[in-house]
Amino acid sequence: MISRRALVGGFLAGGVGMASAAVVGNQPAGRSIFSQGLNGEPGPLAIPDMLSGTVEDGVRVFDLNMQKGISHFFDNADTRTLGINGSYLGPALKMRAGETVRINVSNNIGETSTLHWHGLHLPARADGGPHQTIANGNTWSPQFEVRQNAAMFWYHSHMVPRTGPQVYQGLAGLIFVEDEHSGNIGLPGEYGVDDIPLVLQDRRFGRDGSLEYMSAMQDRMMGMKGDRLLVNGTINPYFVARSDSLRLRILNGSNSRIYQLAFSDGRSFVQTGSDGGLLPVPVRMNSIILAPGERIDIVVDLSDGRHVTLQSTTPSLGAAGGGGMMGGGMMGGIMGALMGERADFDVLDIRPDAGRRRAVVLPERLLNLAAPDPANAVRTRRFVLGMGMMMMGGGEMSINGRPMDMSRIDEVVRVGTEEVWVIENPTMLPHPFHIHDVQFRIIDINGRPPAPGEAGLKDTVLIAPGGRVRLLLSFKDYSDPDSPYMYHCHNLEHEDAGMMGQFTVVS
Ligand code: C2O
Ligand code: CU
Ligand code: CU
Repeated sequence: MISRRALVGGFLAGGVGMASAAVVGNQPAGRSIFSQGLNGEPGPLAIPDMLSGTVEDGVRVFDLNMQKGISHFFDNADTRTLGINGSYLGPALKMRAGETVRINVSNNIGETSTLHWHGLHLPARADGGPHQTIANGNTWSPQFEVRQNAAMFWYHSHMVPRTGPQVYQGLAGLIFVEDEHSGNIGLPGEYGVDDIPLVLQDRRFGRDGSLEYMSAMQDRMMGMKGDRLLVNGTINPYFVARSDSLRLRILNGSNSRIYQLAFSDGRSFVQTGSDGGLLPVPVRMNSIILAPGERIDIVVDLSDGRHVTLQSTTPSLGAAGGGGMMGGGMMGGIMGALMGERADFDVLDIRPDAGRRRAVVLPERLLNLAAPDPANAVRTRRFVLGMGMMMMGGGEMSINGRPMDMSRIDEVVRVGTEEVWVIENPTMLPHPFHIHDVQFRIIDINGRPPAPGEAGLKDTVLIAPGGRVRLLLSFKDYSDPDSPYMYHCHNLEHEDAGMMGQFTVVS
């Protein structure tokens, strides 16, 4: 349970730090008394190692070890963390569509865990969800065929009900899938040079540099939010750009924070991809919202040679933008600030180098993708998100009135069919809804077609308070009556509190 000292400390710290950030605007966050004395000078952005594995009998094999570690986020403090083949986060895994991969996952973190391949279409037994637990000291070796479009996916712990704390401590990493098409459409593609992954994770630290989890009273209901931002595990990162076209593949790997991303000088950028692949056409924009679990693929032009900073603010999403359940308006804004909900961050300081590679000309079309047509859907299922009486400090998070139960299959889907899933959010908070097994298409959001940036392949969709989203899902293959897939809110504290359900695909 949460100690009284931690409760009081957490609340005060969030209040002092965030209130000033909210008033001053785009100040780097992290001036709370929690982080006083922690020295996080700008440092070069860490780029996760990219593993290609080894090919054994035609199978690409990766070895992952979940382990404990000590991280140096700050110059003057050690932080106990969890990582995969390292002290915090894990390596990026490179796979090719059509090949078979095997991943040997060893768990040495001292407690049971799982490793889930978020966004990948694979048999439920290989999914790494809550049923594929790996006891401490054991190894789990799923093998599956890569049936994806080229995109950036990710892996993370999915241990019920400990996903929140395990991911928070560092159990996550990236997966890059390439296909025949992706290498020759003219997008920047040299990993670590002009094709850069950014894993965004807000964290709260104690004065000694330790990670603080659920130390403030609002964390349970709102989800865990921090006042410092880690990008690939780096505090205050900068990146020296050696090309005029910089491709950024951004994952919101945070437990609960939603970011609104834009560049400091307001310059536009082009979105080329979403969760599960390329968009039909590139979409030019000035800012974009990214919810936990979601990924975007964007290209920014640096031909003017100016320093520019990718920044994030807190989006206003209906009633929950400011104060969440405290209501909107001035009061909501102040309460939101006090509760640590609002924070502005510098995400990445981009420093164009001399002698850069010339800008690429982006293709006009990226992927053939017909608009989603629900005409062939055989049924419609409705999912209503619920937060019980969390406001009163009790109750459980739920979907259709039922909190997650590992022994209950909520929905049974027939393989070879298409379905429409309607997700409704009558709560006062936004929820990023994620579905395992398939990449879906958004039919409409509150009755309107999705924005062009949301018209591609998705596995996670943000549902604003009062919102209603219709999705089209196609369950082409992989039936198994005994192993369920999950659907859930990707706010990890909501997920751990029960906002999750299970479905099987049967023949
Ligand atoms: Cu990213 Cu069910 O998970
Ligand atoms: Cu997933
Ligand atoms: Cu939620």
